[in-house]
Amino acid sequence: MKLPKTPIYQYKQKTCDRNIKEFNTFLKNKIDVYYAIKANNYEPLVKSMIEANYGFDVASIEEIEYVLSLGADPSKISFSAPTKLVRDIKQAAKYGIKQFAFDSIIEIDKIMKNVKDPILIARITANNSDAAFNLSVKFGITPEHYPEILEKVYKDKIPLKGVTFHVGSQNTSVTSWRSALRGAQDFINLAQEYGINISLLNIGGGIPVQYNGYVRHSKYYINKILQYIERFRERNRNIEKIIIEPGRALSANTTDLLVKVVNIKEYKNPPLLITDLSVFNGLIEPLEGFEYDIEALDDHKPRQKLKYYKVAGLSCDGCDIIKKKCLLPKSIKVGDYLRIKQAGAYTFVYKNFHMREFPKIVNIK
Ligand SMILES: Cc1ncc(COP(=O)(O)O)c(C=O)c1O
Repeated sequence: MKLPKTPIYQYKQKTCDRNIKEFNTFLKNKIDVYYAIKANNYEPLVKSMIEANYGFDVASIEEIEYVLSLGADPSKISFSAPTKLVRDIKQAAKYGIKQFAFDSIIEIDKIMKNVKDPILIARITANNSDAAFNLSVKFGITPEHYPEILEKVYKDKIPLKGVTFHVGSQNTSVTSWRSALRGAQDFINLAQEYGINISLLNIGGGIPVQYNGYVRHSKYYINKILQYIERFRERNRNIEKIIIEPGRALSANTTDLLVKVVNIKEYKNPPLLITDLSVFNGLIEPLEGFEYDIEALDDHKPRQKLKYYKVAGLSCDGCDIIKKKCLLPKSIKVGDYLRIKQAGAYTFVYKNFHMREFPKIVNIK
C-alpha cells in the first residue's frame, strides 16, 4: 500500500452517509436538522447535508455565502451565533435569512434595526458541566435576566418566536438535554405571562462522538433526546417547529488525520514522540485538554508490545502536546505513521474559523 504525504486528513464519504441516515431519525420525528457548518466545511460533506435536506446553523456571512453558493435554502438557515457583526446581519437579511438568535438587548436592537420581519430566537443558558467544551461561559440569558428580556420584547413588540440553548460540545450526559428543556419550559411559561407565544424550539448541538470507549453511541443520545422532545411537545402544543443543530456528531468520524513520527526522545519520561503536525496547524482541541484516540498504522499486528509515549507536535512551543499519555507499539520508529482518529470536527476549520479572514498586517512606520 502506497502511503500518502503527511500530515493529511482522510475523509470517508461512506461514514458521512451513515451519519446522515442516523440523523434522519430526527426528520422522521418532525425535527429539522440544521448542520453546524463551523465544525467542518469540507465541500463534499456540506453538499451531502444539502442533499439530505438539512438546513444550516451559521455564525458568519462567509459561512452563509458558502452554503448558499452550494445550493442551501435561505429559509433553512439559522444565524444562531448570539453576537453578530452588523455588516453580517445586513447582508444576511439581503439573502433572505430570517432566523436570528440573541442573548442580549444590544443584539435584539441590532437585528431589529437591520432586518425586516425577523424571526427572533432567545438563547438561554444551559448547564454545560458535562461537556468537554463549555459554551455557557460566554452564551445564554440566565433565568434572573428572563424578565428584563421579556419586558423589552413586550414593550417594543419584538417578534420573539423561539427559544434555543446549547448544552456544550461533546456533552456525554444525556440528562443535560432534559434539564435544558426544563429551562426552555421556564422561559416559555414566563413569556406566556407577557402574552408572548413561543412557537419555535432550537435545541442546539452537543451530541457527543465516541472518541473512546467511555461514550455511548450517538443512537443512544438520539433516542433519548427524542423521548424528551416527545414529552416536551405534549406539554407545549404551541410549538410548531423544532430544530437540532449538530456539528461534531455529523462530522468528526468522517475524517482521520494521518501524521508521521519525526523524532523520538527516549530520555524524556514518558518518552516523547514528535509528529510532523503541530496543534497550531490542524488539531487545536488538545490545547483545551481534549484527547483523541491515536493508533500506529500497523497497530493490528498481533501481540505487539506497547508502551506509553507523550505525543507532541512539531512546533517550538511547550504547549504543543497532542496527547499526554498514549499507548503505542514499543517498536515504533521515525518514519512510522500514526492515525489520529475521528478528527473531522473543529480541526482544519480553525485555519479560518467561521471562514473568516485573519486581520491584515500593515506597516504604520
Ligand atoms: C449555536 C450553535 N449550534 C450548534 C453548534 C454545534 O455544536 P456541536 O458541534 O457540539 O454539535 C454550536 C457549536 O459551537 C453552536 O455554537
